[in-house]
Amino acid sequence: MDAAQPGKGKWVLVTGGSRGIGRALVKHLAGQGYQVVFTYQSSAEAARELEREVAEQGGQAEGHACDGRDYDAVRQVCEQLVERLGEPYGLINNMGMTGDQLLFKFDIERYREVVATNLDSSVYFSKCLAPAMAAEKRGKIIHMSSVSGLKGNKGQVGYSATKAAMMGITRSMALELARFKINVNAIAPGYIATEMVEQIPADARKSITSSIPLKRFGEVEEVAALASFLLSTQANYITGQTFLIDGGLTA
Ligand SMILES: NC(=O)c1ccc[n+]([C@@H]2O[C@H](COP(=O)([O-])OP(=O)(O)OC[C@H]3O[C@@H](n4cnc5c(N)ncnc54)[C@H](OP(=O)(O)O)[C@@H]3O)[C@@H](O)[C@H]2O)c1
Repeated sequence: MDAAQPGKGKWVLVTGGSRGIGRALVKHLAGQGYQVVFTYQSSAEAARELEREVAEQGGQAEGHACDGRDYDAVRQVCEQLVERLGEPYGLINNMGMTGDQLLFKFDIERYREVVATNLDSSVYFSKCLAPAMAAEKRGKIIHMSSVSGLKGNKGQVGYSATKAAMMGITRSMALELARFKINVNAIAPGYIATEMVEQIPADARKSITSSIPLKRFGEVEEVAALASFLLSTQANYITGQTFLIDGGLTA
């Protein structure tokens, strides 16, 4: 194996690759030689820009608009990709939304949207791609959870539920898929500097930073580096686990 290009000859799917952590994942993995396919919902322009940036750096990345809440759309995209590219090596279920709202002002449709976006999409993509990985008797699935799945946050009843559930599906999928040598793990980031976190009002951001032992938000590249390790063959004996990357927030 070429140490600088561990992804050579392997394709991986990153959901929600157009922005934030997903975008960093796409760039990092393409830089390691993986052929990266990513999905997005509506950021077509950002997707084309990302494809160009990766190509300029000599990598391969292609973006597809696919609403991850829609099972038929997910199935169709996955079937077409497997037919064209063969068995996938990895899947990172990264797409997500917070949809914060207090219980007293709860909008049920918004809650359902959060569940469909974060949790249902992860199950849909895993269901559609795991059989193709199993056929090769190798593969890696990573679910992007959150510290909000471990630690409560006001306004995040829906978000926390989905992120805790992603730790649960990680364990169950790991047990089911171990016989096919497919590793399933989760990453639970704390506060990472993305648009999702920039939406938090400035004074609240300041107080959050002071509550983080390392006194800063994490960088998207730091999350991408952890994901790349979990995708690598060096992590072949790790499965069913959730890895916190939170500057000590939950220590
Ligand atoms: N940022 C943090 O501090 C943090 C902390 C813990 C966990 N996380 C988790 O990390 C993941 C990425 O977070 P982020 O901050 O990078 O998010 P982000 O910047 O808001 O990006 C979200 C991504 O998901 C895509 N997406 C959203 N809904 C979709 C749908 N229905 N169908 C297809 N794609 C959809 C978006 O596509 P469009 O661009 O087309 O909208 C975008 O690519 C999420 O699961 C989040 O919960 C983030």
